[in-house]
Amino acid sequence: MPEAIKILSGNSNRALTESIAAYLGVPLTKCQVRRFADMEIFVEILENVRGKDTFIVQSTSFPTNDHLMELLIMTDALRRSSAKRITAVVPYFGYARQDRRASGRTPISAKLVANLLTQAGVDRVLTVDLHAGQIQGFFDIPTDNLFGAPVMVRDIKDRMDTKNVMIVSPDVGGVVRARALAKRIDAPLAIVDKRRERAGESEVMNIIGDVTGRTCILVDDIVDSGGTLCNAADALLAKGAKEVYAYITHGVLSGGAVARIAASKLKQLVITDSIQATEAVRVAPNIRTISIGPLLGEAIARTAKEESVSSLFD
Ligand code: R5P
Repeated sequence: MPEAIKILSGNSNRALTESIAAYLGVPLTKCQVRRFADMEIFVEILENVRGKDTFIVQSTSFPTNDHLMELLIMTDALRRSSAKRITAVVPYFGYARQDRRASGRTPISAKLVANLLTQAGVDRVLTVDLHAGQIQGFFDIPTDNLFGAPVMVRDIKDRMDTKNVMIVSPDVGGVVRARALAKRIDAPLAIVDKRRERAGESEVMNIIGDVTGRTCILVDDIVDSGGTLCNAADALLAKGAKEVYAYITHGVLSGGAVARIAASKLKQLVITDSIQATEAVRVAPNIRTISIGPLLGEAIARTAKEESVSSLFD
């Protein structure tokens, strides 16, 4: 590993940053990210970073605005300390669902966040399973969007008989992502098609594909309230699926999501550690976490050595 590489952790997910640093065999750069009494953020980097290739690991997960602000202020501190290059490693990129003007007089917050990061001094971005790939175009700096799929595929192959597996996209918007994973394990694909035929009537779930007797695996980028997943699991079982699992990159899991999933018919939800698990997630009977630390570590190593990152997914 090049000597000049420096890994810094915000407060969003120290455990993941430590696993990245362990993969790279480098110590975490000493740095304080703390609050004044009025909750203003204060950052102090406690080591020389002049001329170094620096990587700040920070998911903009709950509390999103605090974590985003930490990332911006850490970037400012590094820039003013003459770091040679600053890469924002944002395993979960919050605000990504606000990527277009869905109705009049609304913002495109994902673009605003991209502008803020660039303006603060970020030179490149490394993220995982962006909600919409085109968000890369919101940045005018290099942006690598890694895929969680290879980590999920390894886990699925280790634990399941893939011959009976059917990969399922929980909505039409997620088909490209689900199809890519299905291809990697040579499994067929089904799609949940949600429709509200008339305003005021409840949503109808049609399943495109025959799931009878199949082990269904729902694949998505985000589980937030858990509504999409739990409803899809019910619909699949009603159509004769044998059992339903879910592999989701980002476990946002807001509000009562963990309880909802625990009470659902999902056999197991597998998430990555892009967002630090809460205690409720850690003890949940049907939620399991797999790590993307090595994937991010390898992508950082390749970035530092100016090697290909995309070939990680060939
Ligand atoms: C939507 O486009 C996303 O891919 C997820 O399906 C969605 O964010 C999940 O949200 P929830 O868990 O609240 O249904």
